Amino acid sequence: MTLAHLLVTGGAGFIGSNFVHHVVAHTDHTVTVLDKMTYAGNQASLADLPENRVDLVVGDIADAELVDGLFAKADAVVHYAAESHNDNSLHDPRPFLDTNIIGTYTLLEAARRHDTRLHHISTDEVYGDLELDDPARFTEDTPYNPSSPYSSTKAGSDLLVRAWVRSFGVRATISNCSNNYGPYQHVEKFIPRQITNVIRGIRPKLYGTGENVRDWIHADDHSSAVLTILDKGRMGETYLIGADGEKDNKTVVELILELMGEPRDAYDHVTDRAGHDLRYAIDSTKLRTELGWTPSYRDFEAGLAATIDWYRENESWWAPAKDGVEAFYASKGQ
Ligand code: NAD
Ligand code: DAU
Repeated sequence: MTLAHLLVTGGAGFIGSNFVHHVVAHTDHTVTVLDKMTYAGNQASLADLPENRVDLVVGDIADAELVDGLFAKADAVVHYAAESHNDNSLHDPRPFLDTNIIGTYTLLEAARRHDTRLHHISTDEVYGDLELDDPARFTEDTPYNPSSPYSSTKAGSDLLVRAWVRSFGVRATISNCSNNYGPYQHVEKFIPRQITNVIRGIRPKLYGTGENVRDWIHADDHSSAVLTILDKGRMGETYLIGADGEKDNKTVVELILELMGEPRDAYDHVTDRAGHDLRYAIDSTKLRTELGWTPSYRDFEAGLAATIDWYRENESWWAPAKDGVEAFYASKGQ
């Protein structure tokens, strides 16, 4: 893509802020972040970025008037904003409908009015789950079968994008990525929760048996994949993003404990998540062969060690949220 001004929704969240850092480091694009600054948004995740390259607008993607003005100034929009946590969606689904469905609808209508290029960020969870012993992985042709309020609203948002492409000619692409790890991830999520538990002297908490498998990718590799799709993706297409990182949760907890100098079995099994998806696995052949993308972070243990270092060095970033998150989990026996 030639020099462009990008509107990045949800750019103060985990993956969105990693993307903004990636864009500043690897392109000459300028960025406006549109973020509602929910509990998951953190302005500190955008600190130290050059003011002449990045600005932050605090607002809701479901605010049609605000969105319209920002689309008028953008060459392309990358849409990360979402309610993103499965456990929260089991507790209170409503915000997931407002942001993930109505918010995405609002952006699509603006893209239609302004004929703006839109890239929609989605998740592998729209495909439901796989059995542990199933040799299959998700592809772009896997039928949608979401399990949770979160993943069903993400599935709904993907279908809206597809319909706006087909019916109104909106210039959009979609990517469905597997589980991200790296800096700036909220402490409610699995890996940061366990790392910050160990730092605080709390035993890590594994849902159920811990046999559930997630397909881990570093957030920076997710960002490079999204830039590749923005540059070379074909309109109306969906691309799966993954880095061959399947690990069961028990293995990840044991690795965190080992890397942090604790006994590998110093964790607790806690109440399982309702409807807990068993396994996700991505086949990213289309993205790799058609667009030439490859991941850079191939060593999960090294990426995890660097992530542990980041949480050790940035306690002021995560500490304000930690007690509230643990109180919420404790109220559910997790
Ligand atoms: P996050 O919860 O860390 O960040 C979401 C951001 O969106 C926050 O900054 C929040 O303030 C903002 N936001 C929420 N509602 C908004 C609204 N109505 N208007 C404007 N901003 C709003 O989420 P994340 O983990 O960074 O996920 C980002 C995107 O990537 C989501 O669309 C998610 O579905 C997708 N995704 C996440 C993963 C993962 O492993 N975390 C994997 C694949 C896809
Ligand atoms: O697959 C992509 C999805 O990955 C994204 O769409 C979601 O936005 C993102 O939150 C993530 O969803 P998961 O539900 O897989 O992530 P989470 O970090 O919540 O949990 C990862 C696994 O760890 C899951 O099997 C549940 C388990 N878990 C989680 C927590 C918080 C535990 O065992 N203990 C915990 O304390």
